[in-house]
This record gives sequence, structure tokens and C-alpha cells, in this order.
Amino acid sequence: MSKQFDIAVLVGSLRKHSLNRLLAQEVAVLSPASLALQLIEIGDVPLYNDDWDLDPPSAWVSLRSRIARADGVLFVSPEYNRSIPAALKNAIDVLSRPYGKNALDAKPAAIITTSPGALGGFGANHHLRQVLMCLNVRTLPTPEAYIGNAANLFDERGKLVEPNVSEFLTNFMLSFEEWVQALGPRR
Ligand SMILES: Cc1cc2nc3c(=O)[nH]c(=O)nc-3n(C[C@H](O)[C@H](O)[C@H](O)COP(=O)(O)O)c2cc1C
Repeated sequence: MSKQFDIAVLVGSLRKHSLNRLLAQEVAVLSPASLALQLIEIGDVPLYNDDWDLDPPSAWVSLRSRIARADGVLFVSPEYNRSIPAALKNAIDVLSRPYGKNALDAKPAAIITTSPGALGGFGANHHLRQVLMCLNVRTLPTPEAYIGNAANLFDERGKLVEPNVSEFLTNFMLSFEEWVQALGPRR
């Protein structure tokens, strides 16, 4: 097989039964074999504080090195009050520092937002795009992924049961694979 790309997945929800977490797990299954997805936990990442960068907490060090060696990042997030959850923003802030050592620099990325509401986290999706822009993240422009009515997409085992959504996400991940291939791995 040709090269496998290492894709770090950051889920914006910390909830055990998160719809976004379920979706991310399903996306890992339906992604092309050339993408190896791994969920990276961000719930125990201390809030960013410049003072601590003289002797950074171990959770910052490991998050930064894990993302720095990834070939790409997939963000799967809910919308909180028309923006992204604080936990995800904090993880991004930690990754962006210290100044000049942005672990996300030039990284290929893609965004999926998921909501039980009809709009599929549109506001969060675009806030996240804006944040990633100033960090020089190469975010996949299209297709865009706003997954609405998400409470009805899974069976009791957490499996995606809506074929249209599965097909959409399969094609979305094929587009992301092309995007990662085109931009090349960053080592
Ligand atoms: C603090 C908070 C703010 C929320 N704001 C929004 C919102 O602006 N738009 C939206 O569609 N859903 C909003 N929701 C509902 C979430 O979409 C819903 O709880 C969803 O299930 C969270 O994702 P998860 O299942 O992955 O945890 C909000 C939920 C919380 C806890």
C-alpha cells in the first residue's frame, strides 16, 4: 500500500456520549485506508497561560508534539453559543504557542460540525475557520460539512444508520485525502 497519512482528530465535545465523538469514530471507519485517524483527547489540557510556557505542563508538551508530527488534523465539533467550545479553543491556543512554534503551522485540516439542531453547527464551523486562518492552517474549503439533526443519525450501539450521511462523509473524507496528498506530509 502507498503511504498512510497520520490524521489527528480533535473533538470539541468532552461528553462521554457526545454525538461528535460518535461521528468522529464512524468517520474513522469510513475513511479511505490511506488515512489513519486517531482521536486525541483534549479534556485534561490545562487552560493556556503564557507564564507556564517557561516550564510547560506535560499535557501541553504531549499535545504539541502529537499534532506537530501529524500529517493532517480533522476537527469534529459541536457549536456552543454560536462558536466553538472552550476546550477546543484552549487546545488550539496551546498548540499555537510559544510564539514562532505553532504546531499547526501549514497543516492540512478539515472541519466537520455536528448538532442535534437543523443548522449543523454552521456558526462554529465558520468561527473555527477564522481561528485556523491566522494560524496558517490549510483548511479544506469545500466540501463543507454541517451535520444537522444528529440525534437521529445513530442506533443504540452508536452506529451511523443514515445512508445519505455515510455517503456524504465518505466523499468528504476522499476530498480530505486528496487535500492532504496535494499539500504533502509535513515532517
Ligand atoms: C454551552 C452549550 C451551548 C450550546 N450552543 C449551541 C448552539 O449555539 N448551536 C447549536 O446548534 N447547539 C448548541 N448547543 C447544543 C449542542 O449542539 C448539543 O448539546 C450537542 O449534543 C453537543 O455536542 P455533543 O453531543 O458532541 O456533546 C449547545 C450546548 C451547550 C452545552
